[in-house]
Amino acid sequence: MIYIKITISDITMSAAQEKLVIGTQQGRVLTLTLNRPQALNALNTALLIELSGQLQAADTNEDIGAVVITGNQKAFAAGADVKEMATMNAIDLHRDPRVQAWADIARFSKPIIAAVNGFCLGGGCELAMCADYIIAGHKAVFGQPEVKLGIMPGAGGTQRLMRLVGPAKAKQMVLTGATINAKEALQAGLVAETTAAEAVLEKAQSQAKQIARYAPIAVAAIKDCCNKSLDLELQQGLSYERRSYCVVSSSEDRNEGIDAFLNKRKPEYQNR
Ligand code: CAA
Repeated sequence: MIYIKITISDITMSAAQEKLVIGTQQGRVLTLTLNRPQALNALNTALLIELSGQLQAADTNEDIGAVVITGNQKAFAAGADVKEMATMNAIDLHRDPRVQAWADIARFSKPIIAAVNGFCLGGGCELAMCADYIIAGHKAVFGQPEVKLGIMPGAGGTQRLMRLVGPAKAKQMVLTGATINAKEALQAGLVAETTAAEAVLEKAQSQAKQIARYAPIAVAAIKDCCNKSLDLELQQGLSYERRSYCVVSSSEDRNEGIDAFLNKRKPEYQNR
């Protein structure tokens, strides 16, 4: 008889290796790491469903105040999974569960920071744009290369890129499929901040930690109002903001925040 010694750490390691999205929580910050390194984190259906599932769970978890989504040094994500796409016919696309997964990711109510290194292409760039903002390593590469495959962006690439970088740069990127580097992405307004590759995740987590310390009701309302501004005319947006402001001002955390400031102490928010 042959005995094979398997330790608990082996089991934990192999379970973690199989997970397509690894979630780790530190304090009130959840980091979701895309985990298909052999495919440059290409976003297949299983990964997207796992990601949206973890976000949905985080949305109702009061212990989580902000999320960081990241990949690895070589790739945030190199796009939708082209190999999987090749197997899909029109009916598959009609029933595509990724559509709901993308909608759920975009609807997430708490702040998300995308910590991006390496390739951030196609669906990867679309995922990063679903975050509230992007922090990128100096060697990150952004692009919507779908046109080179005879297709087009299908998860917000034409819409969110137009709003973030403006029509000239967006159309240049989606029509030529050309990539831009981190410096160009910063200048264009696609990313909020660039830093050394090794510092990206820590910086994103540190900012997420800061955000997660604030009153959750105020933070969620700020995110919601910022996103609404993309859909509404200015006057409608201002009314929407005003109503949200009144709702936030009726929270117990508003009293706590102001009282803490006046009494020179740290606030203790209760999400009420
Ligand atoms: N889908 C599936 N597999 C992918 C992938 C993708 N989007 N991108 C990379 N991979 C795989 C490669 O096939 C390769 O696997 P094998 O070793 O099994 O062949 C592995 O990842 C490593 O990739 P490369 O050998 O190509 O690595 P490289 O460093 O030479 O090149 C790259 C990197 C320039 C990013 C190149 O991989 C590439 O061009 N990838 C495709 C990028 C792309 O077109 N993305 C858009 C997809 S469509 C989309 O996203 C639609 C949408 O809007 C939702």
